[in-house]
Amino acid sequence: MDRAIEGNKKRPIRGSITVPGDKSITHRAIILNSIARGESKIRYFLDGLDCRNTLLCMQALGANIEKASPFLLKIKGKGLDGLKVPENVLDVGNSGTTMRLLSGLLAGQNFCSVLDGDDSIRKRPMKRIILPLSLMNGQIKGLYHTNFAPLNIIGKSLQGIDYTLPVASAQVKSAILLAGLYAKGETVIREKQTTRDHTERMLALMKANIQSFPDDQKIRLIPGKELKSIDIDIPGDISSAAYFIAAGCVREGSEIIIRNVGINPTRTGFLEVLKEMGANIQMLNQKDISNEPRADILIKGALLKGIQIDKKIIANIIDELPLVAVIATLAQGRTIVKDAQELRVKESDRIKAIVEGLSRMGANIIENNDGFEISGPTGLSGNSVNSFGDHRIAMSLAVAASYAEGKTVIRETECIDISYPDFMPTYQKIME
Ligand code: S3P
Repeated sequence: MDRAIEGNKKRPIRGSITVPGDKSITHRAIILNSIARGESKIRYFLDGLDCRNTLLCMQALGANIEKASPFLLKIKGKGLDGLKVPENVLDVGNSGTTMRLLSGLLAGQNFCSVLDGDDSIRKRPMKRIILPLSLMNGQIKGLYHTNFAPLNIIGKSLQGIDYTLPVASAQVKSAILLAGLYAKGETVIREKQTTRDHTERMLALMKANIQSFPDDQKIRLIPGKELKSIDIDIPGDISSAAYFIAAGCVREGSEIIIRNVGINPTRTGFLEVLKEMGANIQMLNQKDISNEPRADILIKGALLKGIQIDKKIIANIIDELPLVAVIATLAQGRTIVKDAQELRVKESDRIKAIVEGLSRMGANIIENNDGFEISGPTGLSGNSVNSFGDHRIAMSLAVAASYAEGKTVIRETECIDISYPDFMPTYQKIME
């Protein structure tokens, strides 16, 4: 579905909004409570396509999950050994998180399974999980090519490992932790860059024997203990809030408050980068619920300047980098993003996609192997642009369109339902 957006850069935007529940935390809450002991309620879960696929896969594996209301899931945990062999191929759709986390979960079961997904997922690298899971004695193979989905998983008795992550990936880390729950002996994971730590936080709440050593960037999991079901209140997704933060932060006279957004420090790279660019952002009403910090985020329009972004913060801002590109076109001076080659293996090649989209809208942007460079400010002008079926590109281009002169038509916007089904209604409410 194509979507036409009329730009209105001059019009300040004001208002108070909420954003849907965090995608990463929703996946983990569903998976971990399904293999825990007891009953749990998950409030404000994200009802987007990716998390629905996790839910359906877990149900196909025998999990007892009920959608009690649009905001509430009820789960009766099966315990670590309560899953059953699925009758069909497990379809993860577009969701890399589902594919990689479930690979870890399934590697240590006493049955075989097959994980598959859409065309995008079949192109995404799976060697990064096949390798460590194989070192744990797991047996996982790509059916048609060696390292790509569909993945055939033959459940095995696993061994713990001591593993240094070669790529900064929370999905890989979480896959190993899930496998580690079923392994003999302890699992140690070492990170060179800290990645989102929702799995570790939730496992700790569920009384798993897990410890994080932030100074050594190391996590240790000792298996053998059942997980205890827990009720989880999911905060708003900072990656979804980011679109409205971006829509307000460079717009004169704007003032937006986004309530109850997750501000886990492994996810706030976007806020740190914007503040360094000169943005006016405040956190109000900070609190901790379900072991995840959250706050109301207040954004006021300001003049921004370009900056350099590299390895130190990339893992912390990975999903927001297309939006950084959009904002950099409006900021004074040069913005350089490097060490971000991971963007090329997301739902689309996000470097190519955002460079193409913003170039078509008149931005001064250069593509590099590991990122991009932008000189600003440039006046954006509406054009026809491609989302490449990638939800984050579609929404980033919608933000760019709001700052552009004239009409922008974004192609294939149905992908937005993957992470933020209510994005367009919220956008219309606040922009018009
Ligand atoms: C996610 C981790 C990130 C992120 C993705 C969600 C997760 O991927 O890009 O949207 O929930 O663990 P990587 O860990 O592979 O970088």
